[in-house]
Amino acid sequence: NKVVLAYSGGLDTSVIVPWLRENYGCEVVCFTADVGQGLKELEGLEEKAKASGACQLVVRDLKEEFVRDYIYPCLRAGALYERKYLLGTSMARPVIAKAMVDVAKEVGADAVSHGCTGKGNDQVRFELTFFALNPELKVVAPWREWDIQGREDAIEYAKKHNVPVPVTKKSIYSRDRNLWHLSHEGDVLEDPAQEPKKDMYMMSVDPEDAPDKPEYLEIGIVAGTPISVNGEMLSPASLLAELNEIGGRHGIGRIDLVENRLVGMKSRGVYETPGGTILFAAVRELESLTLDREAMQHKDLLALKYAELVYAGKWFDPLREAMDAYMTKITETTTGSVTLKLYKGSVTATSRKSPFSLYNQDISSFESGSIYNQADAAGFIRLYGLPTRVRAMLEKGF
Ligand code: ARG
Ligand code: SIN
Repeated sequence: NKVVLAYSGGLDTSVIVPWLRENYGCEVVCFTADVGQGLKELEGLEEKAKASGACQLVVRDLKEEFVRDYIYPCLRAGALYERKYLLGTSMARPVIAKAMVDVAKEVGADAVSHGCTGKGNDQVRFELTFFALNPELKVVAPWREWDIQGREDAIEYAKKHNVPVPVTKKSIYSRDRNLWHLSHEGDVLEDPAQEPKKDMYMMSVDPEDAPDKPEYLEIGIVAGTPISVNGEMLSPASLLAELNEIGGRHGIGRIDLVENRLVGMKSRGVYETPGGTILFAAVRELESLTLDREAMQHKDLLALKYAELVYAGKWFDPLREAMDAYMTKITETTTGSVTLKLYKGSVTATSRKSPFSLYNQDISSFESGSIYNQADAAGFIRLYGLPTRVRAMLEKGF
């Protein structure tokens, strides 16, 4: 039998390879997804996997799929978890796990494995995706089974099994990076009263050190989906890469959050989402022109639930899919362009335009127009306020 392992080449996943062979007597196919984490060590990764005892390494570039089919739907939905979190890690797990299910089929594996701990959200996201796409696959989560406790144990286990210990110095933070974001957890962050260290950040400069001159940026959007930056049409992955670059240099998109994990505990994380923060601002701004009051309020209500489902690993769930159809429909007219001003960590919209704008200057202007008749407001207010008058009459004994 064969297992497909989500493999990064770091110490933990390197140790999982011999552990799986020893404890399950199976061949190990390592799988690495490129979701824009900056896979600079792709060269040599195959040798490394094989040196750990893998029979094969499969690498897939999932960048465009990730942005187009996972990130953009969440952006259209306006999905935000617990008021701040833009779901970078949550969206990446289902695209990786789906690819693992495909690879398992291709190589004839009957099991899948991942290096998530038993305390986090990621294990749930991986495994719910496996369940949804192939319920027959066996799932092995070594962190929930083995007695390797921390780095020293892992190095010892590696040496005993002739696994080359990765030379790269392990960071003190637990990090997860992809095209949408970079997350930091652990070390000083475990105390919510402590400010993050300046040198922790990797995608963005400190807003205090950002340029003193603001930068203007125009985002083109079609049906809630970004298509261009400053008039240049870009593929999903390249558009996001470009915005990360621009946003990062202005210190955009740093978020410091104490969140409720699905497994019940609170945890503190710091996230850098420069491009995503810009795109969120742009889509929302355009919606101020294209959605009426009821539509916007109802969309925002559903967005809350949508974000919860994504956070909780229910990507491949009929409820999320149905809500996605709703979001696609309601953002059908979210088309146009938004100009944003970036300045020392802030994103401010300065201009918004849409062919589907519901804004009508003739109606809204303080200068008199012909469609809106101010005298109509008197009757409207009398009827709209009828319950208010009835209650007041009752309470005050009229
Ligand atoms: N707390 C965030 C989430 O659940 C980030 C998780 C980071 N994952 C990691 N393996 N470092 O989405
Ligand atoms: C992990 O525990 O593997 C990472 C953190 C998380 O999944 O929430």
